[in-house]
Amino acid sequence: MAGWGGFFVSLLNYKTEKYVIAENRKIGILFRLYQLAVLGYIIGWVFVVKKGYQEREEAIQTSVITKLKGVTLTNSSETGLHLWSSEDYVIPPNGEQVFFVVTNYIETPNQRLEFCAESYKVPDGRCQSDDDCPAGEAVIAGNGIKTGVCLNSTGTCEIHAWCPVEYSKRPTEPLLNEAENFTIYIKNFIRFPKFEFSKSNVLETSNDSYLKKCSFDRNYNPYCPIFRLGDLVSWTGNDFQEMATKGGSVGILIEWDCDLDKDASLCKPEYSFTRLDVNVNNSVTSGYNFRYARYYKNESGESYRDLYKVYGIRFDIMINGKVVVISATFTHRAVPEFKTRC
Ligand SMILES: *[C@@H]1O[C@H](CO)[C@@H](O)[C@H](O)[C@H]1NC(C)=O
Ligand SMILES: *[C@@H]1O[C@H](CO)[C@@H](O)[C@H](O)[C@H]1NC(C)=O
Ligand SMILES: *[C@@H]1O[C@H](CO)[C@@H](O)[C@H](O)[C@H]1NC(C)=O
Ligand SMILES: *[C@@H]1O[C@H](CO)[C@@H](O)[C@H](O)[C@H]1NC(C)=O
Ligand SMILES: *[C@@H]1O[C@H](CO)[C@@H](O)[C@H](O)[C@H]1NC(C)=O
Ligand SMILES: *[C@@H]1O[C@H](CO)[C@@H](O)[C@H](O)[C@H]1NC(C)=O
Repeated sequence: MAGWGGFFVSLLNYKTEKYVIAENRKIGILFRLYQLAVLGYIIGWVFVVKKGYQEREEAIQTSVITKLKGVTLTNSSETGLHLWSSEDYVIPPNGEQVFFVVTNYIETPNQRLEFCAESYKVPDGRCQSDDDCPAGEAVIAGNGIKTGVCLNSTGTCEIHAWCPVEYSKRPTEPLLNEAENFTIYIKNFIRFPKFEFSKSNVLETSNDSYLKKCSFDRNYNPYCPIFRLGDLVSWTGNDFQEMATKGGSVGILIEWDCDLDKDASLCKPEYSFTRLDVNVNNSVTSGYNFRYARYYKNESGESYRDLYKVYGIRFDIMINGKVVVISATFTHRAVPEFKTRC
């Protein structure tokens, strides 16, 4: 208990510091250097380099709307003439941030639900005798259900399927080679909720004809987000016609790096373009294709369909952004006015 008593007595003691002045140059200089280092750290590193006085935000809210324009006519030996407009070649057609543009295709027209030979390309569909084609079994990775008959003419099982099955090969030249000249309009709205700052990548103008005529130029028209597909692909370092034949995937990155202490016009979108299916030399994995069908009914009400295997370029639009501002000065900023260029 004595310990407690001593502790309470010591609480009531008065303490002061005693200064010692050392008239020693070395110690004096060392002490001042130490103070200078602390000051230098605060001013140089925290304020100037790290901009510690600025507030930053990386939570960006964004919306992307796309629209493609361009029309082309294809003439394939099997199915004849086809007119392709954006409703046909953009999938899905509703202006998404990720979309696919058809550049090449295989069409299998007028398929009906019937009995026909499985394609020889499907290993499980090949047969030597009827025993290889048990009735009712689906062809693995194939097109239909086996009927129990091995067809001698093709060396494959007879199947119940949409007939005839797809047989032609991918054209070596893209059928929609003029897709190179299609244009894509990318509308991007961004908002940094903390600073109530919002902006878009399109020039604010009341001139209707501006967007109809302009095309993107990093230096002269940075607020005209209309790109030629051929340019987009060549900026990724690839050849459009080659990519259009087998398909591929292209990433479009829009970066907003904004310092609101500077003029708002300096807060502008920076675009970069990359090919995302990078393993291009490996012919098994490169490229992009999928199939879809269009269904019809003939006059007596029977269904038939056209099957398309489409090759094309998939575009992924990605948005990144951050904003910094001096915390003391940020106020509610409205959308800045852009000056019309060109
Ligand atoms: C389409 O191709 C066929 C031959 O494959 C040709 O006879 C025809 O003139 C072509 N049509 C057009 C409009 O080019
Ligand atoms: C297929 O060929 C085998 C023997 O080569 C023959 O026995 C069989 O009858 C043939 N089937 C048909 C449908 O022609
Ligand atoms: C794209 O347009 C340019 C100029 O209009 C033209 O010279 C070129 O042949 C077109 N490209 C294709 C693949 O049609
Ligand atoms: C609208 O823009 C077009 C092309 O950019 C230009 O030629 C025209 O003079 C502009 N019209 C007005 C009223 O500014
Ligand atoms: C891909 O193929 C090209 C020529 O076909 C060759 O020059 C290049 O080195 C290859 N790249 C890789 C990563 O193998
Ligand atoms: C409709 O299709 C069915 C089955 O494919 C066929 O038998 C019929 O003749 C077709 N009718 C007409 C009017 O084409």
